[in-house]
Amino acid sequence: MNILGINAYHGNASAAILSDGRLVAAVEEERFNRVKYAAGFPAAAIRYCLKTAGIKASELDHVAVPRNPYARLGTKLYYALQMPSFARERAKVLAKFTGIREALAAAFDVRPEALKARFHRVEHHVAHLASTFYCSPFAEAALLSADGLGDFASSMWGAGCGGRMRFHGSVAFPHSLGLYYSAVTQYLGFLKFGDEYKVMGLGAYGEPEFLPQFREIVHLNGTRFRLKLEYFTHHRTGPHMSWAEADRTPVLGRMYSDEMARRLGPVRAPEQPIEQRHKNLACSLQARLEEVYLGMLRRLHQETGMKSVCLAGGVAFNCVANGKIPASTGFEDVYVHPAAGDAGLAIGAAQFVWHQVLGNPRDFAMEHAYWGPEFSGAEIRSAIQASRLGENGGSVSELPEEELLRKTAAIIADGKILGWFQGRAEWGPRALGNRSIVADPRRAEMKEILNRRIKHREIFRPFAPSILAERTAEWFEQSHPSPFMTMAYSVKPEKRDKIPAPTHVDGTGRLQTVTATANPRYWKLIAEFERQAGVPVVLNTSFNDNEPIVCKPQEAIDCFERTQMDALVLGDFLITRSRNG
Ligand SMILES: [Fe+2]
Repeated sequence: MNILGINAYHGNASAAILSDGRLVAAVEEERFNRVKYAAGFPAAAIRYCLKTAGIKASELDHVAVPRNPYARLGTKLYYALQMPSFARERAKVLAKFTGIREALAAAFDVRPEALKARFHRVEHHVAHLASTFYCSPFAEAALLSADGLGDFASSMWGAGCGGRMRFHGSVAFPHSLGLYYSAVTQYLGFLKFGDEYKVMGLGAYGEPEFLPQFREIVHLNGTRFRLKLEYFTHHRTGPHMSWAEADRTPVLGRMYSDEMARRLGPVRAPEQPIEQRHKNLACSLQARLEEVYLGMLRRLHQETGMKSVCLAGGVAFNCVANGKIPASTGFEDVYVHPAAGDAGLAIGAAQFVWHQVLGNPRDFAMEHAYWGPEFSGAEIRSAIQASRLGENGGSVSELPEEELLRKTAAIIADGKILGWFQGRAEWGPRALGNRSIVADPRRAEMKEILNRRIKHREIFRPFAPSILAERTAEWFEQSHPSPFMTMAYSVKPEKRDKIPAPTHVDGTGRLQTVTATANPRYWKLIAEFERQAGVPVVLNTSFNDNEPIVCKPQEAIDCFERTQMDALVLGDFLITRSRNG
């Protein structure tokens, strides 16, 4: 039985496919159309999923769509009357949803009647919760989803046991932790969709000077929170999000009100310098987010009495807050879905249908995130042959694994910047050792070099460490697995000067714990690096330059040629640049 999950007409459009309940493939549309956070209809992602499962669209049994227009209908109608323009925008998107069978048929050039699949609508946060619970290794767990807005709610919580989930509560529009973070992110001059993580990084440079004011902006009572709405505009005008089109990165309209400027001081324009006040505001924003998020989780732990918690929704990408869960909520084990944002809805909706609608038991845990496209040695060879690599003094050599790893580790230890492309592309926004740029963590200057030569991004943003999982407790204050880079832990004080490049200014690192089973070749590379350089850690950043992470070998070659990377590994091929090239 084949179930296709589709996140369409929403940011992070994506598709995933389950065959007899087993995940076979999952990918975001942005990896194909090269538009960051692409929305619209994910035709290329669906095509890839069907091809990997070896079926045609007409052979699908079920299609799961993570949106339920009937959820919170009363609230929706109330706000539709208050905000007619917002209601019109939503109606347009809804019209597209009602035509999703037709869109799928059109993408595969078949008549809609040829699709025998049953279509299911799964509420947004139910799909988020399903994505994390059904992918977790836990037989039972408390569940929390928190984001900006989906089906007119911003968070939902409950508990999962075996194949079933129960939902205990939710917070509806206009109260939203995600929109709270987005509004202050905009107020601080970061206007692009997805900029919240920049502000999270900036917060580490500040003091929580404005925490009393931020406590006024968000109130918490048990698991429920409320925003002080005079600081925002979205409850009056609607959160304007343009994401019906596939060829554009989504855009968010302004969400902070003039009251925010009156209470917190002047708004920062994007081109203005970042002052200490801005850092303190970012720090205070984050501090209040943590108080509320961890407070909700503490209460959820008391209510459920469970040992483990599963998290999803955009707020679950807040690795700084996640890192504090084991020490401050009562939960001992944490699982965060690697695509905790809206891409993950495609898997969640499909899994909800498999387990909760069709009643099938669980026998799957997502232990790695490699569910995207892969390319054969022959495909890599022909991409190299079609390029100019190896000309003008550069070299290309195909090597046996041991030699490849030895030479590659030596390149990293020599302070060079390496592009590393292997196997299937990662699911979710983090490069986890298959589409990564890898560098020496021992060199403090590496951060500045990477930013100047490759990434062209803000200097205050941290880089992340990948560590051999079994060595985590030696280097970090905590050792819970963090296979998907969703937790930030404190680096042990005595180790900080050994890995300064991926240690943030507050002494934390957003680590990836790498196991030999999840990614054998990447694990061996780090082990070889340790043998040569003495630390079981490499710096890992995504293989891209202000674009979606590379997907195909050709894109990796283009990024290598465009930037000032020193060497590139594509599968078994080691490519070095000419000394003067
Ligand atoms: Fe969401």
